[in-house]
Amino acid sequence: MKPSVFITRKLPEEIVAPLKEKFTVRMWDSEDVAVTHAVLREEITQVDALWTMLSDTIDRDMLESATNLKVISNLAVGYNNIDTEAANEMGIIVTNTPDVLTETTADLAFGLLLATARRFNTAEKELRQGGWLSWTPMGFTGMDVHGTTVGIIGMGRIGEAVARRAKGFNMDVLYHNRSRKPETEEEYGVAFAELDDLLQRADHVVILAPFTEETKGMIGGRELGLMKKTATLISVSRGCIVDEVALYDALKNKKIFGAGLDVFETEPVPVRHPLLTLPNVTAVPHIGSASVKTRLTMMKLNVDAITDVLEGREPANRVV
Ligand code: DGY
Repeated sequence: MKPSVFITRKLPEEIVAPLKEKFTVRMWDSEDVAVTHAVLREEITQVDALWTMLSDTIDRDMLESATNLKVISNLAVGYNNIDTEAANEMGIIVTNTPDVLTETTADLAFGLLLATARRFNTAEKELRQGGWLSWTPMGFTGMDVHGTTVGIIGMGRIGEAVARRAKGFNMDVLYHNRSRKPETEEEYGVAFAELDDLLQRADHVVILAPFTEETKGMIGGRELGLMKKTATLISVSRGCIVDEVALYDALKNKKIFGAGLDVFETEPVPVRHPLLTLPNVTAVPHIGSASVKTRLTMMKLNVDAITDVLEGREPANRVV
């Protein structure tokens, strides 16, 4: 019997075709609607390989019923949606899609920074609603990006790519990371700062740290209170790193200038979410890696990883 693969979202046929030549492939039939918990629970008990999206939660309980499962390949660089500790204990390989999305995600982070600081969303909304009645000297004024200081929390590959962009804007770059990175400091001309110091000095704070027990709620009321009133907060890794109640308070009461959010505590974010009512929030729906080329390249990495494991080879991009 051929090994079987379940794909939790409808993906392009040409990408899935190489898997179909070798394995029995079943695929959830919607691109927009996530696989139901019931279907995922049923499939995981049967298949040899699971191709997941970052929106699928694969917890210990689910993994315990996965008697044939050999590999989970996640369409993302982040893999906090999978209980990797449990997978490791059970000998299930987990892979992700790093590197190929670095520059695309950095583009989004920097774009969100520009949009937030220069208030693109408010200006565009006004224009579309007929509110642009005359050019006004101080209308839609925001904060400068060039020549300011950016503080990057999480200096991994995407952090470095954001730092390179910042240098092109003549910015000073501070970073905070679990461990100091002397080579990165040397190569990109960036300076390490303790978290509080970074928050106090940065004009723009960009969160790129992975979501872990240590980073959960790392930016709360106290931390937001340290930021400049003129500063922006750009959140691009995982929503749970920022306390959204505290962020709402900081934005509503103008303790910081604005926030650019690609990620949220709960995704999809409910349309009535308090943060979405604030004009100083620029929000996009977790699109960091969303360019056609990058998403297709990420998918190819998943295909290779699944094929390698099912054919007995060590996959690239193994996280456990
Ligand atoms: C990922 O792939 O984990 C990121 O969220 C990219 O947006």
